Amino acid sequence: MFDILDNRVKKKESKFNKTDNHKRVYIETYGCQMNISDSEIVLSVLSEFGYNESSEMEQADIILLNTCSVRDNAEQKIKNRLQHLARYKKNHPDRIIGILGCMAERLRGDLLEKEKVVDLIVGPDEYRKLPHLIENIFETGEKGIAVKLSKVETYDDITPVRKDGVTAFISVMRGCDKFCSFCVVPFTRGRERSRKMDSIVDEAKRLFDEGLKEVTLLGQNVNSYRDEGKDFSDLLKATANAVPEMRIRYTTSHPYDLSDKLLETMAEFKNICKYIHLPVQSGSDRVLKLMNREYSVEHYKGIIRKAKVMMPGIGLSTDIIAGFPTETEEEHRMTMELMAEVEYDGAFMFAYSPRENTKAYKYLDDIPWEIKQRRLDEIIEQQRQISYKINNRLVGKEKEILIETPSKKSPDYLMGRTDCNKSTIIPKESYKTGDFVKVKITKANSATIFAEAAG
Ligand code: SAH
Ligand code: SF4
Ligand code: F3S
Repeated sequence: MFDILDNRVKKKESKFNKTDNHKRVYIETYGCQMNISDSEIVLSVLSEFGYNESSEMEQADIILLNTCSVRDNAEQKIKNRLQHLARYKKNHPDRIIGILGCMAERLRGDLLEKEKVVDLIVGPDEYRKLPHLIENIFETGEKGIAVKLSKVETYDDITPVRKDGVTAFISVMRGCDKFCSFCVVPFTRGRERSRKMDSIVDEAKRLFDEGLKEVTLLGQNVNSYRDEGKDFSDLLKATANAVPEMRIRYTTSHPYDLSDKLLETMAEFKNICKYIHLPVQSGSDRVLKLMNREYSVEHYKGIIRKAKVMMPGIGLSTDIIAGFPTETEEEHRMTMELMAEVEYDGAFMFAYSPRENTKAYKYLDDIPWEIKQRRLDEIIEQQRQISYKINNRLVGKEKEILIETPSKKSPDYLMGRTDCNKSTIIPKESYKTGDFVKVKITKANSATIFAEAAG
């Protein structure tokens, strides 16, 4: 067990830590990178009040689940976890169990009523209240709830507590105003708001000084970033200039408002990774319209064409939803064709899951489960073949990778990524995490590339 907060945190004067808070907090994170980044903010907020992180649930006084609502199976996973925690709490009634994140926002008071094991519900914009709410539970036994969404909260004065590593997320904006008809995020995360450019650039510089090698700028749609007339390309440019030896990535860009200026900025800077995650969702204009995605297939293809011309060899990935209401077999095939034409390096593929409050919830979820699943399987299998083909084209080529972690499969190997986001395995030799290494690719499968150090 380790306490990453112990040596980094100066306790602030407050009525809570005067008593020397020795309480430990364990946090489990589900969902997207925004949640990973938010868990780091939560740890920072709690550390100010003397709470230490525990990496073992059994050692913790407070157990927090930072949750995701994006699809029904994401919520079911948390509900199963809560059943396990209910059994655990029977033997440890003094432990506090809290739900944070998108499910806290979506289900609110319902969760307190239906899931008796839950003591605390805190939505994504209320994390500053956590120390007070937790202390109140310890003092009075009263359950705590805070789920207001904010138009201004960006946590921009909070330094996230990050795990040691070579890469980090920097959240640059919160919320989403796009209201895609299937998506719960605008309801769980509230309105779009951007963090100040200076504070983002300063954070990147600080991370560089601490020895990190790569940052990923995060937002649900980074193209909506605005700060006093500056847009996301300006932010990307400012960050790339401030930390020229760091790799810079970003996610996610929405195809509707991805500008030429953004592509030009990516092409201009050596340290901005040549990789775009550009969720398309469907290859049919009719379905895209029903999804409220606000672009056509032709517009989407236009962006891909430009990106490929401006940055040959660029890495591309996407998100796809199979079985959206009324999707025909023909429209499913159009999605498959688009995927084959673009040749994505990778894709996140999902069966449509109706979400309460969204516009699509009012449509009939008319595609039977077996058909959705079969379409999804076809999409996944086609993508596997495309990834295999693309990865094998790289065999014999030389690339630079940044070593991120030991290989999961063997201690004699390391895992790094190319600038185009290809996960690459090399023999360890004398390399270590954080090294940039020139490698020659020797073989590949659909998920991984194998390489050896080049010369
Ligand atoms: N902001 C990002 C996506 C966030 S959600 C963007 O717009 O690109 C990540 C992915 O989950 C979405 O791109 C979509 O493919 C999928 N998704 C969201 N809601 C879904 C639903 N109701 N059913 C199935 N998949 C969904
Ligand atoms: Fe959801 Fe659309 Fe916003 Fe992405 S852009 S978070 S899919 S509403
Ligand atoms: Fe899930 Fe919330 Fe992210 S719904 S995908 S954790 S923004």
